[in-house]
Amino acid sequence: MRIDVLTIFPEYLAPLDLSLIGRARQHGLLDITVHDLRTWTVDVHRTVDDTPYGGGPGMVMRPEPWGGAFDQLVPADGPVPRFVVPGPAGVPLTQSLAAELAAEPWLLFGCGRYEGIDQRVLDVAAERMTVTEVSLGDVVLFGGEVAVLAVVEAVTRLLPGVLGNAESLLEESHTGGLLEAPVYTKPAEWRGRAVPEVLRSGDHGKIARWRRDQALIRTARRRPDLLSALPPGTLDRTDQLA
Ligand code: ADE
Repeated sequence: MRIDVLTIFPEYLAPLDLSLIGRARQHGLLDITVHDLRTWTVDVHRTVDDTPYGGGPGMVMRPEPWGGAFDQLVPADGPVPRFVVPGPAGVPLTQSLAAELAAEPWLLFGCGRYEGIDQRVLDVAAERMTVTEVSLGDVVLFGGEVAVLAVVEAVTRLLPGVLGNAESLLEESHTGGLLEAPVYTKPAEWRGRAVPEVLRSGDHGKIARWRRDQALIRTARRRPDLLSALPPGTLDRTDQLA
C-alpha cells in the first residue's frame, strides 16, 4: 500500500518509522512518504494560513499549497489516491472504516491545523478522488497528525503479512461487535489477586464461555450502543446478559 501524508509538521509523523509500522515499511508492505506542505507555498514567508472569511477566531489553511501538492503528487493522467482528511467533523473512525481503507492501494492524508482547511481544497479533491473526512471521536485535537498516526496504525495491522499472528485479528474488540474480555498472564497470583481459576483450568470450552460472558458484560456496561447495534442472531440462547 502506498501512503502519502501532507502536513506542516512532518516531525509529528516520526513514529511511523517505529515498531510494526516501521517493520512493514522495511519489508516493502508499506510505502510511506511524509511531505512538508510548505514545499508548495507561494510566498517568501511560506504562509499556509490566513484569517477566515466571515470573521471569527483562529486561522484557516489557505488552498494554494494544497493545490500545488495535488498537482505534483496526483498527476492528471495517473491513478488517484483516496484522500483522507482527519477532523472533528468527520465520520467516526471504526474498525469497518479501517478495513475499507486497508483495501485501497493508495491513501493520501491531509493534516489540517488551526480552524481547518479551506473547503475548496476538499471540493476540488472530490472532483477526482474519493474524499473521506475522519474523526477520532467527539473531541478536538490541535490538528490531524495524531489522527493520521491512529488511522495508519489501524489500517496497517489489517494488511496481509503485517501481523505475525493473524488469529489475533479475529478475536479482538470490535471485529465481532463486542469488547474483548480481560486478559491475564503470569504470575498466577500477584499482590493478593489470583488469575480467574477458569483460565487455568485447561478446559477450552469453559474458557471460551467465560470469555464470551465477560465480553458481553463489559460491552453491556461500557458500550450499550454496541450491543444494540449487533446484527440479529449474533447473540444465541447460551448468551445470558447481565
Ligand atoms: N483534528 C482535530 N480534531 C480531530 C478529531 N477529533 N479527529 C480527527 N482529527 C482531528
